[in-house]
Amino acid sequence: MGEAAEIPVQLVEEIRSKALHAPRPRILTSAQRDALFEQITSLLRERNAVLITHYYVDEQLQILTDATGGYVGDSLGMADYGNRHPATMLVVVGVRFMGETAKILNPEKRVVMPDLAAECSLDLSCPIGAFSAFCDQHQDRTVVVYANTSAEVKARSDWVVTSSNAVDIVAHLHTRGEKIIFAPDRHLGHYVQKKTGADMLNWQGFCVVHDEFKAEELRRLMQQHPDAEVIAHPESPAEVLSMANAIGSTTQLINAAKASKASTLIVATDFGLFHKMHEAAPDKHLLAVPTGGDSASCVSCAHCPWMAINSLDNLATVLENSNGHEIHIDEVVRKQALIPIERMLEFSRTKGKV
Ligand code: 13P
Ligand code: SF4
Repeated sequence: MGEAAEIPVQLVEEIRSKALHAPRPRILTSAQRDALFEQITSLLRERNAVLITHYYVDEQLQILTDATGGYVGDSLGMADYGNRHPATMLVVVGVRFMGETAKILNPEKRVVMPDLAAECSLDLSCPIGAFSAFCDQHQDRTVVVYANTSAEVKARSDWVVTSSNAVDIVAHLHTRGEKIIFAPDRHLGHYVQKKTGADMLNWQGFCVVHDEFKAEELRRLMQQHPDAEVIAHPESPAEVLSMANAIGSTTQLINAAKASKASTLIVATDFGLFHKMHEAAPDKHLLAVPTGGDSASCVSCAHCPWMAINSLDNLATVLENSNGHEIHIDEVVRKQALIPIERMLEFSRTKGKV
């Protein structure tokens, strides 16, 4: 059991700076929004395209996705949906690793994204060169990587997991006596290790959103709302998770909100999820876990800066002309990355999880 070396300070600074300087979409009037809804809806039809959208993007994009017969969900559901849908163009509204996963699974389809600069700090904190060298040093270990990684890192792995199946898959490998390298999220790795007891070497990557949730501020909020329940995404720090009544992927958190008896929920994840959570559990009062307060500065403020790049404007642009917005993956890398992704989907299908 153990940890890989800390992510180099310079890389951490680069990632934080990218997060802070990610472009922000313009604010739309309702007339502009309605016009864009109409334009995008007819372009989707013309292009035989479907929207595959993550819960963290702007709620207008989620509403449009539902209205046009697309899919809004977690990263596992997004991967599975593109695979099953007959559209010839998949428009992935999320961050780049989600588009790459869709392309790896659907090489015959065009996969486009509103902005390819929509990154993920977990992906950025796991560069293929350093990660591959680390794996080479521990060749006796099964390499398990989170979906939030590049196609190259997936290609270097034995298994891909998402937050909805990481515990089950690692538990399965542990019962087979396998020792594990887990990357890139340090908090998810720690959580999975605790739940399964597996022998794991954890990469030290971090999510700029969840890593910022503060246990001290959460404690204060819980004192103000003593009847509230806490639900948390496993990318959150261990101390925050230790206070949670439910822990899971974004879809699992929506289900937990629906099932909870509490009228107030304190939610430790990106506040983009509140849109679907309100829809699923309209009677609940939702509060975000503080990221700042007295104890810290706030880089993400509970909203992923890269998910926030997606807008109705750049979605319309990509549907008009997809030049510079299409995902391309080297065929050797794609074929190799497909193996651990298929393994994960097959595992989840047998468990009835997709
Ligand atoms: P989910 O797989 O739970 O959707 O999480 C993806 C993600 O990026 C969380 O930060
Ligand atoms: Fe990556 Fe965190 Fe954004 Fe999810 S919320 S896409 S893990 S940076």
